[in-house]
Amino acid sequence: MYPIELRKITKSFKNASGNGELLILDSIDLCPQVGKSTAIIGKSGTGKSTLLQIAGGLDAPTSGSVFCNGTDLGTLSDSKKSLIRNRNMGFVFQNNMLLEDFTALENVMIPAMIAGKGKKECRDRALELLEKLGLTDRLDHLPGQLSGGERQRVAICRALMNSPEIIFADEPTGSLDEENAREVENMLFDIVSSEKKTLLLVTHNIDFANRCDMVYRLSNRKLTLEKG
Ligand SMILES: Nc1ncnc2c1ncn2[C@@H]1O[C@H](COP(=O)(O)OP(=O)(O)O)[C@@H](O)[C@H]1O
Ligand SMILES: [Mg+2]
Repeated sequence: MYPIELRKITKSFKNASGNGELLILDSIDLCPQVGKSTAIIGKSGTGKSTLLQIAGGLDAPTSGSVFCNGTDLGTLSDSKKSLIRNRNMGFVFQNNMLLEDFTALENVMIPAMIAGKGKKECRDRALELLEKLGLTDRLDHLPGQLSGGERQRVAICRALMNSPEIIFADEPTGSLDEENAREVENMLFDIVSSEKKTLLLVTHNIDFANRCDMVYRLSNRKLTLEKG
Protein backbone atom coordinates (compact mmCIF):
# COMPACT_ATOMS: atom_id res chain seq x y z
CA MET A 1 0.00 0.00 0.00
CA TYR A 2 1.13 3.53 -0.74
CA PRO A 3 0.29 6.86 0.86
CA ILE A 4 -0.93 8.04 -2.55
CA GLU A 5 -1.60 6.13 -5.73
CA LEU A 6 -3.19 7.67 -8.83
CA ARG A 7 -4.77 5.29 -11.32
CA LYS A 8 -5.95 6.33 -14.76
CA ILE A 9 -6.67 9.89 -13.71
CA THR A 10 -8.47 11.93 -16.34
CA LYS A 11 -9.60 15.51 -15.82
CA SER A 12 -11.52 17.81 -18.09
CA PHE A 13 -12.96 21.23 -17.39
CA LYS A 14 -16.12 22.65 -18.90
CA ASN A 15 -15.76 25.77 -21.02
CA ALA A 16 -17.24 28.96 -19.63
CA SER A 17 -20.14 28.56 -22.07
CA GLY A 18 -20.76 25.13 -20.55
CA ASN A 19 -21.11 23.34 -23.88
CA GLY A 20 -17.55 22.18 -24.45
CA GLU A 21 -14.92 20.34 -22.46
CA LEU A 22 -11.19 20.82 -22.28
CA LEU A 23 -9.19 17.70 -21.52
CA ILE A 24 -6.28 18.53 -19.17
CA LEU A 25 -5.12 15.14 -17.83
CA ASP A 26 -5.44 11.91 -19.78
CA SER A 27 -5.29 8.56 -17.98
CA ILE A 28 -2.41 9.38 -15.64
CA ASP A 29 -0.85 6.80 -13.32
CA LEU A 30 1.44 7.94 -10.53
CA CYS A 31 2.65 6.36 -7.33
CA PRO A 32 5.21 8.46 -5.43
CA GLN A 33 7.70 6.27 -3.58
CA VAL A 34 7.79 6.32 0.20
CA GLY A 35 10.76 8.18 1.67
CA LYS A 36 11.56 9.74 -1.71
CA SER A 37 11.00 13.07 -3.38
CA THR A 38 9.11 13.16 -6.67
CA ALA A 39 8.94 16.28 -8.83
CA ILE A 40 6.47 17.14 -11.55
CA ILE A 41 7.68 19.71 -14.04
CA GLY A 42 6.02 21.15 -17.12
CA LYS A 43 5.00 24.38 -18.77
CA SER A 44 2.51 26.72 -17.18
CA GLY A 45 -1.07 25.67 -17.84
CA THR A 46 -0.29 22.00 -18.46
CA GLY A 47 -2.23 20.89 -15.38
CA LYS A 48 0.43 20.41 -12.69
CA SER A 49 -1.58 22.14 -9.95
CA THR A 50 -4.72 20.33 -11.05
CA LEU A 51 -2.90 16.99 -10.75
CA LEU A 52 -1.57 17.84 -7.29
CA GLN A 53 -5.00 18.97 -6.10
CA ILE A 54 -6.50 15.71 -7.31
CA ALA A 55 -3.73 13.69 -5.64
CA GLY A 56 -4.44 15.53 -2.37
CA GLY A 57 -8.19 15.02 -2.59
CA LEU A 58 -8.81 18.77 -2.97
CA ASP A 59 -10.35 18.28 -6.41
CA ALA A 60 -12.08 15.24 -7.91
CA PRO A 61 -10.93 13.59 -11.13
CA THR A 62 -13.37 13.29 -14.05
CA SER A 63 -12.51 9.60 -14.09
CA GLY A 64 -9.96 7.34 -12.45
CA SER A 65 -9.13 6.84 -8.78
CA VAL A 66 -6.88 8.20 -6.06
CA PHE A 67 -6.01 5.71 -3.34
CA CYS A 68 -4.67 6.73 0.04
CA ASN A 69 -3.23 3.66 1.79
CA GLY A 70 -5.54 1.55 -0.32
CA THR A 71 -8.71 3.59 0.28
CA ASP A 72 -10.32 5.08 -2.83
CA LEU A 73 -10.87 8.76 -1.97
CA GLY A 74 -13.72 8.86 -4.50
CA THR A 75 -15.79 6.56 -2.28
CA LEU A 76 -15.52 8.82 0.79
CA SER A 77 -17.74 11.63 2.03
CA ASP A 78 -16.25 15.14 2.13
CA SER A 79 -15.85 14.94 5.91
CA LYS A 80 -14.01 11.60 5.74
CA LYS A 81 -11.76 13.02 3.03
CA SER A 82 -11.03 16.08 5.18
CA LEU A 83 -10.12 13.78 8.04
CA ILE A 84 -7.64 11.87 5.86
CA ARG A 85 -6.16 15.13 4.58
CA ASN A 86 -5.78 16.40 8.13
CA ARG A 87 -4.11 13.19 9.40
CA ASN A 88 -2.14 11.88 6.44
CA MET A 89 -1.33 14.80 4.16
CA GLY A 90 0.54 18.07 4.47
CA PHE A 91 0.17 20.88 1.93
CA VAL A 92 2.55 23.70 1.05
CA PHE A 93 1.35 26.17 -1.58
CA GLN A 94 3.18 28.89 -3.49
CA ASN A 95 1.37 31.68 -1.66
CA ASN A 96 1.63 29.85 1.71
CA MET A 97 -2.09 30.40 2.54
CA LEU A 98 -1.37 31.33 6.16
CA LEU A 99 -4.23 32.88 8.13
CA GLU A 100 -3.32 36.56 8.33
CA ASP A 101 -4.98 37.23 11.69
CA PHE A 102 -3.14 34.46 13.48
CA THR A 103 0.48 34.42 14.67
CA ALA A 104 3.11 32.07 13.25
CA LEU A 105 2.72 29.83 16.29
CA GLU A 106 -1.08 29.77 16.02
CA ASN A 107 -0.98 29.04 12.29
CA VAL A 108 1.23 26.02 12.92
CA MET A 109 -0.97 24.78 15.79
CA ILE A 110 -4.22 24.84 13.79
CA PRO A 111 -4.02 21.41 12.05
CA ALA A 112 -3.44 19.70 15.42
CA MET A 113 -6.26 21.66 17.07
CA ILE A 114 -8.54 20.52 14.22
CA ALA A 115 -7.38 16.96 14.89
CA GLY A 116 -8.64 17.39 18.45
CA LYS A 117 -5.31 17.36 20.27
CA GLY A 118 -4.91 19.20 23.57
CA LYS A 119 -3.65 22.76 23.52
CA LYS A 120 -0.40 22.05 25.35
CA GLU A 121 0.46 19.13 23.10
CA CYS A 122 -0.26 21.30 20.02
CA ARG A 123 1.85 24.13 21.37
CA ASP A 124 4.80 21.89 22.27
CA ARG A 125 4.82 20.22 18.85
CA ALA A 126 4.50 23.58 17.05
CA LEU A 127 7.35 25.04 19.09
CA GLU A 128 9.52 22.04 18.27
CA LEU A 129 8.88 22.43 14.52
CA LEU A 130 9.32 26.20 14.50
CA GLU A 131 12.61 25.80 16.33
CA LYS A 132 13.77 23.18 13.85
CA LEU A 133 13.05 25.57 10.98
CA GLY A 134 14.81 28.46 12.71
CA LEU A 135 11.75 30.51 13.63
CA THR A 136 11.94 30.53 17.43
CA ASP A 137 12.19 34.33 17.55
CA ARG A 138 9.24 34.80 15.16
CA LEU A 139 6.54 32.93 17.13
CA ASP A 140 4.29 35.90 17.77
CA HIS A 141 4.71 37.55 14.37
CA LEU A 142 1.69 37.78 12.11
CA PRO A 143 2.26 36.51 8.54
CA GLY A 144 2.34 40.13 7.33
CA GLN A 145 5.33 40.75 9.61
CA LEU A 146 7.38 37.90 8.13
CA SER A 147 9.56 37.71 5.03
CA GLY A 148 8.51 35.47 2.13
CA GLY A 149 11.00 32.79 3.14
CA GLU A 150 9.87 32.90 6.77
CA ARG A 151 6.21 32.62 5.75
CA GLN A 152 7.05 29.60 3.63
CA ARG A 153 8.93 28.00 6.52
CA VAL A 154 5.89 28.55 8.76
CA ALA A 155 3.77 26.91 6.07
CA ILE A 156 6.13 23.91 6.07
CA CYS A 157 5.83 23.65 9.87
CA ARG A 158 2.04 23.74 9.54
CA ALA A 159 2.16 21.02 6.87
CA LEU A 160 4.25 18.82 9.17
CA MET A 161 2.21 19.45 12.31
CA ASN A 162 0.26 16.17 12.31
CA SER A 163 3.27 14.17 11.07
CA PRO A 164 1.69 13.34 7.68
CA GLU A 165 3.26 10.58 5.65
CA ILE A 166 2.97 12.56 2.43
CA ILE A 167 3.72 16.21 1.72
CA PHE A 168 2.34 17.98 -1.35
CA ALA A 169 4.12 21.14 -2.41
CA ASP A 170 2.95 23.31 -5.31
CA GLU A 171 5.69 25.73 -6.40
CA PRO A 172 6.79 26.15 -2.74
CA THR A 173 9.71 28.35 -3.76
CA GLY A 174 7.92 30.09 -6.65
CA SER A 175 7.67 33.45 -4.91
CA LEU A 176 11.05 33.42 -3.14
CA ASP A 177 14.44 34.90 -4.00
CA GLU A 178 17.27 32.48 -4.71
CA GLU A 179 18.69 32.38 -1.20
CA ASN A 180 15.34 31.82 0.52
CA ALA A 181 14.33 29.33 -2.16
CA ARG A 182 17.48 27.29 -1.53
CA GLU A 183 16.82 27.31 2.20
CA VAL A 184 13.25 26.09 1.76
CA GLU A 185 14.45 23.40 -0.68
CA ASN A 186 17.06 22.21 1.82
CA MET A 187 14.48 22.02 4.58
CA LEU A 188 12.07 19.96 2.51
CA PHE A 189 14.78 17.51 1.47
CA ASP A 190 16.06 17.29 5.03
CA ILE A 191 12.59 16.33 6.27
CA VAL A 192 12.13 13.74 3.52
CA SER A 193 15.41 12.01 4.34
CA SER A 194 15.44 12.34 8.13
CA GLU A 195 11.76 11.48 8.67
CA LYS A 196 11.17 9.18 5.67
CA LYS A 197 8.39 11.34 4.29
CA THR A 198 7.03 11.11 0.78
CA LEU A 199 7.26 14.41 -1.10
CA LEU A 200 5.27 15.18 -4.24
CA LEU A 201 6.43 18.50 -5.58
CA VAL A 202 5.40 20.72 -8.48
CA THR A 203 8.00 23.18 -9.66
CA HIS A 204 9.11 24.95 -12.80
CA ASN A 205 12.61 25.27 -11.36
CA ILE A 206 14.68 22.59 -13.11
CA ASP A 207 17.52 22.72 -10.56
CA PHE A 208 15.07 22.15 -7.72
CA ALA A 209 13.42 19.29 -9.62
CA ASN A 210 16.76 17.67 -10.37
CA ARG A 211 17.55 17.48 -6.66
CA CYS A 212 14.55 15.12 -6.35
CA ASP A 213 14.83 11.32 -6.59
CA MET A 214 12.33 11.11 -9.44
CA VAL A 215 11.27 13.69 -12.01
CA TYR A 216 8.20 13.49 -14.25
CA ARG A 217 7.29 15.90 -17.01
CA LEU A 218 3.65 16.76 -17.66
CA SER A 219 2.99 17.65 -21.26
CA ASN A 220 0.21 16.93 -23.73
CA ARG A 221 -1.94 15.65 -20.82
CA LYS A 222 0.49 12.80 -20.04
CA LEU A 223 3.28 12.20 -17.53
CA THR A 224 6.65 10.91 -18.69
CA LEU A 225 9.49 9.87 -16.40
CA GLU A 226 12.61 11.97 -16.93
CA LYS A 227 14.67 10.84 -13.96
CA GLY A 228 14.55 7.99 -11.49
N1 LIG B 1 -11.59 25.40 -12.23
C1 LIG B 1 -11.21 25.44 -13.52
N2 LIG B 1 -12.11 25.61 -14.51
C2 LIG B 1 -11.71 25.61 -15.80
N3 LIG B 1 -10.44 25.47 -16.21
C3 LIG B 1 -9.50 25.31 -15.27
C4 LIG B 1 -9.82 25.28 -13.88
N4 LIG B 1 -8.66 25.09 -13.18
C5 LIG B 1 -7.69 25.00 -14.10
N5 LIG B 1 -8.17 25.14 -15.35
C6 LIG B 1 -7.40 25.07 -16.60
O1 LIG B 1 -6.63 23.90 -16.58
C7 LIG B 1 -5.36 24.14 -17.13
C8 LIG B 1 -4.29 23.68 -16.16
O2 LIG B 1 -4.26 24.53 -15.03
P1 LIG B 1 -3.21 24.32 -13.83
O3 LIG B 1 -3.41 22.95 -13.29
O4 LIG B 1 -3.37 25.45 -12.91
O5 LIG B 1 -1.83 24.38 -14.63
P2 LIG B 1 -0.34 24.55 -14.09
O6 LIG B 1 -0.35 24.38 -12.62
O7 LIG B 1 0.46 23.50 -14.80
O8 LIG B 1 0.11 25.91 -14.51
C9 LIG B 1 -5.27 25.61 -17.46
O9 LIG B 1 -5.49 25.75 -18.85
C10 LIG B 1 -6.41 26.21 -16.68
O10 LIG B 1 -6.95 27.31 -17.34
MG1 LIG C 1 0.19 25.66 -11.06
